[in-house]
Amino acid sequence: MFDAKGFIEEAIGEIKSQVGRETAIIGLSGGVDSSVAAILVHRAIGKHLLAVFVNHGFMRKGEEEEIVQTFRGDLGMNLVAINAKKRFFKSLKGVTDPEAKRKVIGEMFIQVFEEEAKKDEAAFLVQGTIAPDWIESDGGIKSHHNVAGLPSGMVLKLVEPLRDLYKDEVRVVARELGLPPSISERMPFPGPGLAIRVLGEISDEKVDIVREANAILEEELKRADLKPWQALAAMPEGRSVGVKGDIRDYGYAIVVRAVESIDAMTATSMEMPWPTLKTIMKRITREIPGVTRVLYDLTDKPPATIEFE
Ligand code: XMP
Repeated sequence: MFDAKGFIEEAIGEIKSQVGRETAIIGLSGGVDSSVAAILVHRAIGKHLLAVFVNHGFMRKGEEEEIVQTFRGDLGMNLVAINAKKRFFKSLKGVTDPEAKRKVIGEMFIQVFEEEAKKDEAAFLVQGTIAPDWIESDGGIKSHHNVAGLPSGMVLKLVEPLRDLYKDEVRVVARELGLPPSISERMPFPGPGLAIRVLGEISDEKVDIVREANAILEEELKRADLKPWQALAAMPEGRSVGVKGDIRDYGYAIVVRAVESIDAMTATSMEMPWPTLKTIMKRITREIPGVTRVLYDLTDKPPATIEFE
């Protein structure tokens, strides 16, 4: 049985002796991993930690406001929020390949983060890396995850307090630390955010549609008291014919996906109750102009991945 209390005490002690009286910086995404990592380090070194939240424009609805309120407002953390949406959109112009998208976003993230880190002169970089991140990365499955996010050419020493934990253990730690359920129970959300839930080239309009669809999906899951390991709404390429009112419409399709998993390495599609699926479909097509069709993805991982691209 995982001992969260013991883990927290030990982690804080280790961070204190590792960082000493120097300063540290963390890229806070609002996800449970970086949040827990940030709080452990904050408990260990207080204001000597600077949290940097980079809004790349692919966040979920209300996410930036919530993060600023929780970490700066409620927890009193030293936090800067940077809105870099324009730069990210510009750098993704014409980019359609999933791995290329990740690379562009990752590099831009590092650039923006580095600009901030240079001002701060931190000696340590805190990362919310958990076990599956480096296991999957070492295995070369994908060029993603926090592991790739190390600023190049920066002489920062790494602090990775969650390196040996799995997601469910991180959540136990989050609860033990007294984090609100909006964070401790938060579903995993990919670093590149909604950009990889719009298949192919992104646009403002498509990202906004997908943001709205993800918000509806999350609201309805909450209303139905369903807690899949991860759920998402994505937009495939191409358009689909539909009728809205009495008018033939040529709109977008949205794919809804919900999976059960332990560590994201494998996953099974969730048997979502039909009434919930119907409500989600109705709300997405009624409330989001331009969407004429909603599909549910039944595929397990493998053969599919959890995200669409
Ligand atoms: P896949 O799609 O590989 O996803 O089955 C496994 C888990 O990883 C998340 N994911 C990402 N996380 N950057 C991230 O930080 C990425 O590029 C990325 N791609 C997928 C995904 O949401 C799931 O939880």
